Amino acid sequence: MIDQYNREITYLRISITELCNLRCRYCMPADGVCKKRHEEMLTEDELVRAVETAAMLGITKVRITGGEPLVKKNAVSICRRIAAVPGIREVCLTTNGTLLPPLAVPLREAGVRRVNISLDTLDERKYADITRGGSLKDAWSGIEAALAAGFDRVKLNTVLIGGFNDDEIVPLAELTKKYPLDVRFIELMPMCDSREFDESAFIPYTRVLEALPEAVPAAADGGVARLYRLPGAQGNVGLISPVSDHFCAGCNRIRLTADGKLKPCLHSCEEYSLKGLDDAGMKARLEQAIWNKPLWHGELDASHRSRAGRNMNQIGG
Ligand code: GTP
Ligand code: 5AD
Ligand code: SF4
Repeated sequence: MIDQYNREITYLRISITELCNLRCRYCMPADGVCKKRHEEMLTEDELVRAVETAAMLGITKVRITGGEPLVKKNAVSICRRIAAVPGIREVCLTTNGTLLPPLAVPLREAGVRRVNISLDTLDERKYADITRGGSLKDAWSGIEAALAAGFDRVKLNTVLIGGFNDDEIVPLAELTKKYPLDVRFIELMPMCDSREFDESAFIPYTRVLEALPEAVPAAADGGVARLYRLPGAQGNVGLISPVSDHFCAGCNRIRLTADGKLKPCLHSCEEYSLKGLDDAGMKARLEQAIWNKPLWHGELDASHRSRAGRNMNQIGG
C-alpha cells in the first residue's frame, strides 16, 4: 500500500517488548522501565493477526526488535509464526546479542533470515559504561553464535558518539576484513532519555569517511545505510544518517510497539492502537496509519529532540 506521499510501505518493524537486559545510555533510563500490565500488551495471537493483515496490505519484510526481543520467552515462536505468514518474504531480528548463543540456531530454524547486533565499542570497560553494566564478552559470544548459525547476513550496529567511540572507527570498521559481516555507524538520535549527551556527542556520518580514506562506495542493499567497502573486506561499512541527512523521502516502513500502537514515523507522537480490534478493525487502522504517515520527522539535532514521546526501547529503533 502507498501512503499519501506515494511512498510504498513494505517493511514492518515490531517491538515485541520494552524490556531489556541492558540499559544503553542513548536508549533507555538507568532504572529501566515500569513493566506494563499484561492486558496492555499485544498477545502473540494479536501480533500474528496484525502481521497477516499487514501482509495483505503489502508488507513483505518484518523486523523483530525490542527493548531486547530475546528477553521475551516466546521470541522464537513469534518469529516462526510470522515467517509462516503468506506474503512475508523476510523476517529479521535486531538484538544486543548477549542472549543469542543458545537461540541463534533455533531462530535460524524458525525462519529468521538476517540478524543485526548492537556493538558500540571493542573496549570491555567502555561497553560496560555505555550499556550501564553489560559485558562485551557476552555480546561477542552472540556475534560468534550468529556467524556460526548460517544467517543470510549479520550486521553490527554502532551508534556513533563523539567523545566516546569516534576514536574506534578504524578498528570497528576493520571487523569487516576479519569477519563476513557489515558494520554500520548510526548517527546518535536525540531521544527523551539521551539528555546526558551534549552537542559534541552528535557527530555526522562524514566523520567515518574521514577516518576511512581507503573506503570505496559499494552497491546499495535496499536498506537505509549508504554502503562502502574497505580493500579486501568480506562485508560492507554502512553509514546511517537520520540526523545530518535524513532519508524520510524514501521511507518504506511503519512500526508496531509492544503495547499495540502503530507508529507511522519513528519521531512522531502519532499512534494508532490495534489493541482489541477484530480483523476488519485492524485492517482499517493499518490503512489509516499508513495513509497518514508524516512526510518527514521534522528538525532533529542536539537542540531539536525527537517528538516520538517514547524512548527508543519503547519503539524498537
Ligand atoms: P536492514 O534490514 O538490515 O536494512 O536493517 P535496518 O537498518 O532497517 O534495522 P536496524 O534495526 O538494524 O536499525 C538500524 C538503525 O537505523 C537504528 O538506529 C534505527 O533506529 C535506524 N532506523 C531504522 N529505520 C529508521 C527510520 O525509518 N528512521 C530513522 N530516523 N532511523 C531509522
Ligand atoms: N540513536 C541512534 N541509534 C539508536 N539505537 C538505540 N537508540 C538510539 C539512538 N538514540 C540503535 C541501537 C540498535 C538499533 C535498533 O537502534 O543501537 O542497534
Ligand atoms: Fe537494550 Fe538495545 Fe536499548 Fe541497548 S539499545 S538498552 S541493548 S534495547
